[in-house]
Amino acid sequence: MSREKPKNLWLSRWGFVLAATGSAVGLGNIWKFPYITGEYGGGAFVLMYLACILAIGIPVMITEIALGRRGRGSPLDAIGRVVRENNGNPAWKAVGGMAMLAGFMILCFYVVVAGWAFAYTWKMLDGSLAAPSVEALGAVFESHNANPWALGGWSVLVALLTLLIVGKGVQAGVERAFRWMMPGLAVMLLVLVGYSFSNGSFGEGVAFLFTFDASKLSGEALLAALGHAFFTLSLASGAILTYGSYIPDGQSIARTTFIVAIADTCVALLAGLAIFPVIFANGMDPSAGPGLIFMSLPLAFQQMPFGTAFGVLFFAMVSVAALTSAISMIEAVVAYLNEKHGLSRPRGAALAGAVLLVISLLAMLSFNVGADWKLFGMTLFDGLDYLTSRWMMPLGGILMAILAGYCLRDGIMRDELGLSAGGYALWLFMVRYVSPVMIMLVFLHALGWLGFDPLVRWYWVLGAIGTLAVLGELLRPGMQRARVRA
Ligand code: TRP
Repeated sequence: MSREKPKNLWLSRWGFVLAATGSAVGLGNIWKFPYITGEYGGGAFVLMYLACILAIGIPVMITEIALGRRGRGSPLDAIGRVVRENNGNPAWKAVGGMAMLAGFMILCFYVVVAGWAFAYTWKMLDGSLAAPSVEALGAVFESHNANPWALGGWSVLVALLTLLIVGKGVQAGVERAFRWMMPGLAVMLLVLVGYSFSNGSFGEGVAFLFTFDASKLSGEALLAALGHAFFTLSLASGAILTYGSYIPDGQSIARTTFIVAIADTCVALLAGLAIFPVIFANGMDPSAGPGLIFMSLPLAFQQMPFGTAFGVLFFAMVSVAALTSAISMIEAVVAYLNEKHGLSRPRGAALAGAVLLVISLLAMLSFNVGADWKLFGMTLFDGLDYLTSRWMMPLGGILMAILAGYCLRDGIMRDELGLSAGGYALWLFMVRYVSPVMIMLVFLHALGWLGFDPLVRWYWVLGAIGTLAVLGELLRPGMQRARVRA
């Protein structure tokens, strides 16, 4: 059994949990989840998203961490090593390459959104958010975006901070920052939910989030829910795999995954509960788009006691949460440059950072000067989000599931996961049949190749999983024998 020696390890038992939660909890939970839930009409979308977390996100996350720890390295090298240990095809490394590319592409638009959070911390302080209505706050958001110097300045600030931290090495910094940040964010969200409960249209908000209305389901919404499950757990983009490579042997991967996924989901649902009641109480349209939280929450801050101080703290927390996520997106690239090309961490960060600055500034221009620069009808900002969340990450997920479920020798993952027999069988069943089938069905449906609503008609799903299970069991011994001979 050729286990790789770890190069870096987390400082404490909780190191990985803290850092992975820090990566997972970010703008995806507080900004993106509410805004896309609003766009896709509420409850039905939320349910699909939760189903995707459970059936796809968690099994894929367990797989990804295990691959990282087994291969001990950046995504490309780690997957390469695991495949080599198995005498497999080195082409699998491409999955790691695609993951790193996806993480980097996400970062290019993420710094713009993180820039909003930073800018709003400042705007809470200087009084520019003292606008009387949702419309007036919408105008503040628009005028902030219309000015490329302001918008670009904040994105550059976020990018530089990220690079600075990554250049120094993440373990110590991230672990330390997390100890106070996560509890702080949780308390803030609870206070905001408390405010919404007593002053907002809480019932309406809850009904919007949790009433299942099947007519709101569409192929587009399913794909968005699937993509968001990947995005919010930072999956298939190098982050979790690289962090996983720093976990000491012997720590339970499955237990850790559950903690991270539950914390992440709770933060998203709390953010939804905090935001939608305020939106309904103020007659705002929940499908207002990416500006949703920036137009609604400042109104709540104005009305609550100590609102300004609270608002400053809140946006500061969101900024830190965004920063810890941003760090994780580029960590894989820096680890790769370090490991493969011998670049020191600061140099790797500088090199990646130069590219990041150029692309993120171009993405920032999507809100002003470059609003009309479109490829396939999308601005660069939207295009980066669409390509990564809807296609690259789910594709990476399906490939990792197939690699671990079908192609690796039985012992490797069993050894790495250290689960009970039942737990291992459950994981194997999920990555062999459930996760890939569901991702495939969502893809086919989004491409318009399936006429029915596959995930609504659950018997189609069960039928497909069953067929694949039988086929897989019939074909697998052949596949494995072929590999042994090769
Ligand atoms: N999960 C983070 C969020 O919800 C975003 C994030 C961090 C991410 N690292 C990532 C998304 C890597 C995709 C890939 O905000």
